[in-house]
Amino acid sequence: MLKDKNIVLGVTGGIAAYKSVEIASRLRKAGASVHVIMTAGAQNFITPLTFREITGNPVITTMWGEVHNYNVEHIALAQLADLVIVAPATANFLAKAAMGMADDMLTTTLLATKAPIYFAPAMNTNMYNNPLTQTNIQSLVDLGWHLIPPASGHLACGIDGVGRMPDPVEILDFVLENIAHKADLQGKKILVTAAGTYEPIDPVRYIGNRSSGKMGYAIAAAAQKRGAEVILVSGPSALMPPQGVDFIGVESAAQMREAVLKHFPKTDIVIKAAAVADYRVRNVAEQKIKKNDDKLTLVLEKNPDILKELGEKKNSDQILVGFAAETQNLLEYAQAKLEKKNLDMIVANDVSRKDAGFNTDTNVVKLLYKNGTIEEMPIMTKQKLANELLSKIIRLKNQ
Ligand code: CTP
Repeated sequence: MLKDKNIVLGVTGGIAAYKSVEIASRLRKAGASVHVIMTAGAQNFITPLTFREITGNPVITTMWGEVHNYNVEHIALAQLADLVIVAPATANFLAKAAMGMADDMLTTTLLATKAPIYFAPAMNTNMYNNPLTQTNIQSLVDLGWHLIPPASGHLACGIDGVGRMPDPVEILDFVLENIAHKADLQGKKILVTAAGTYEPIDPVRYIGNRSSGKMGYAIAAAAQKRGAEVILVSGPSALMPPQGVDFIGVESAAQMREAVLKHFPKTDIVIKAAAVADYRVRNVAEQKIKKNDDKLTLVLEKNPDILKELGEKKNSDQILVGFAAETQNLLEYAQAKLEKKNLDMIVANDVSRKDAGFNTDTNVVKLLYKNGTIEEMPIMTKQKLANELLSKIIRLKNQ
């Protein structure tokens, strides 16, 4: 898909700039012609010579220098570009870009280009979470720029948190997934549920489960990028809601049910990735329970099965997809849930595996369809799986 494409790779001044060398190298190996524009800051981390050797093209470092001996200069590069990737994108760059500034070659080119722009923010967690940075990112997303979300992990500044630039291979996967799918969910309304629910015991304690929300958030983000109008109903999660989705935060299963039922009549597709607590505490204590006794008995009562309710209500045009997290008898249990809840598809997850299920970045699933077909999916990132699931759901919808 990248063969013979002209790709502008913008590199700004962050420590992750060294990873951009591999991005350039992979793009070239994929057959693209890569034109690197470096900001002044980026040149403190890595030299233009490195990119020149990797790409085989001159590297643009200033607006004011000699015109290069090839016909790519100033606005010409903006017109030549089939695709622009800015990685890493610093907070300073995002602020300038969101304001429409054009004080260096990168911002000037971006202002002038009509090519799709992908950007991978990379910075300290607090800088990333700062409302100013978030506002700038949102402005760029609203303009149609494609956000490559930062990963969480150990950052160069010594803390653990969100803000790490994803690995080059993940960045390219992201771009390729996007090019491949374009806007095939345009006009569709999708409701996604994610994360686990918290069932209160008293004002400070709850019963919960290990779901991180990663799978549901990845589905919501992918559907939004593919043009869908997305409502994400999520239990408590440490993840940032994906840009551009309509986010409804809930705690208990009862709250999730209320939000889901409210929006269900107008949705085309429902994907229930949430791990809903099956039971809630019958008598929630109004005050914090004190440890006066050696034993504490909690009486639990069954929560309503939201998905089953949707299965009873759904019309023939609506697609209903559930998840089954199991530790044994995966196919048998998943098949029973598919039938009992009147689903079109169920994503069966063996959560006893280390590389699948709760709180992992990858997943290994089997897909069971209403017509009896079973599909085994290889191990893949939750982001890639999200796109695969959406493609399969579109196929179901078009049948
Ligand atoms: N689900 C739901 N409401 C519930 C319980 C589950 O909507 N009260 C949905 C989940 O979002 C998921 C699917 O049903 O898509 C499967 O959930 P799971 O808990 O694995 O299945 P259960 O039917 O609850 O069966 P069990 O807990 O006995 O395995």
